[in-house]
Amino acid sequence: MATTTTSMDQVLERVRANEQAGIQRLLDWLRIPSVSTDQAFKGDVRKAAQWCADRLKEAGIDASLKETGTKDKPGHPIVWAQHPGPKGYTGPHILFYGHYDVQPPDPLNLWKSPPFEPVILPADGKGDVPQERIVARGAVDDKGQVATFLEAARAWHETANEIPCKMTIIIEGEEESGSANLERFCNENKSALEQCDICVISDTGMLGRGKPAITSGVRGLAYTEIKLHAADQDLHSGMWGGRCPNPINELAKVIAQLWDKDRRVTIPGFYDDVQDVPQADRDAWAPIARDYPKMLEKIGMGSDANVGEKGFNALEREWIRPTCDCNGIYGGYMGEGAKTVIPAWAGAKVSFRLVANQDPAKITKLFRTWLDDHTPPGCRWEFHDHGGGFPGNVASQSPYMQAAMRALGTAGGGADPAIIRTGGSIPVVGMLKGDFGLDTLLVGFGLDDDRVHSPNEKFELDCYRLGCRTHVALMDELARMKP
Ligand code: BES
Ligand code: MN
Ligand code: MN
Repeated sequence: MATTTTSMDQVLERVRANEQAGIQRLLDWLRIPSVSTDQAFKGDVRKAAQWCADRLKEAGIDASLKETGTKDKPGHPIVWAQHPGPKGYTGPHILFYGHYDVQPPDPLNLWKSPPFEPVILPADGKGDVPQERIVARGAVDDKGQVATFLEAARAWHETANEIPCKMTIIIEGEEESGSANLERFCNENKSALEQCDICVISDTGMLGRGKPAITSGVRGLAYTEIKLHAADQDLHSGMWGGRCPNPINELAKVIAQLWDKDRRVTIPGFYDDVQDVPQADRDAWAPIARDYPKMLEKIGMGSDANVGEKGFNALEREWIRPTCDCNGIYGGYMGEGAKTVIPAWAGAKVSFRLVANQDPAKITKLFRTWLDDHTPPGCRWEFHDHGGGFPGNVASQSPYMQAAMRALGTAGGGADPAIIRTGGSIPVVGMLKGDFGLDTLLVGFGLDDDRVHSPNEKFELDCYRLGCRTHVALMDELARMKP
């Protein structure tokens, strides 16, 4: 095994020596605007995929681009790579997953530097404020985090002339736009994926600055769009106001009925499959939860904004409770000035964050039935299912989890990593579990104030360094295990 001739310290030293070049490599990747949801960026998305495959090849890993989708509806390519591990390898087969696509950078005017012209900014000061960081779209979600893995692989390759474990690597190009072609791709490559023992993903965050963590659960998502149609034409609001339903008024009333006075979702059956979390887990999180009201200040609100489902604190509401949110609402006159109109229709984007064991398709169906039961007089609904993903939970006591804890401990200088959850969603986690029985280690390096999906997204260099070191150590830890 590589580790008998090469010590991990040598590889860690190599990662450190490569640091400046590694950061420059990441900046190059960030300059490619791989916005997957917008077809105008199709060519750039492919360029970003090729960039990633080329870096994997430099680390001695056989990588190529795999086409996805159908002839009529082609998708973005998946970066697919495999490495057999050292000769005589008997450890587990690792699947590494990440995504190279990014969210649209809008609204552009709020960026302090252009989203695809990455810059390195100095620390804002000492303490719990943004430190030295890379600012660009995709800096932390997820190119910067994938880069920490790429640099670890490179360091192993350059030091030991091989990667210590057997690996399959999937870097997806459609995560930010719903992963429409991922499940099919995975099923077409079933034989390889069935051989994998554990998946590793770096696309989540830490507990805080200098507080490394492993995430044991992501929420699921069901995303819908609804349109309420009323008259077959726009109407003068003086002639028709008060005489027939206004779809904006009616839509607003229907949406408002989605929550009761305890801020619980009112759709019958919505909570039926929700798995209660043991009180012991909730007790263990209590000390963390106390910081939450203070965190509201960071987003410009007072602690009186600490509201949500009755009976649960803010952290529980994020990690272990399902929610419903309206993500967009539109219709009527939205131009400058005043126009007295009763529009023909109004629309909204309505999504649900789900927890185990909720099923996104089932929730979407329940919502649709509920809507039909709440159809305003004379109106009709148009309904679109934008998909989503299952929630994913990982047993916190598994040997793989222990290996990840050790790796983070080594990389971070001994500090005991926390086991946390996140309110965000990574659809592949639930899919791998459901389709291949595969568990995932979510080892992420983001921070709460990284402005993920927002203008001025950042990745702090300390987080980048911890990521590189952790992946070096994690490969070593996993290679020593029995599958
Ligand atoms: N990396 C994020 C998920 C995430 C966000 C994890 C924040 C931890 C903290 C991922 O790229 C993402 O944005 N997922 C989407 C879901 C997807 C179906 C568009 C999300 O959570 O909205
Ligand atoms: Mn992500
Ligand atoms: Mn994202």
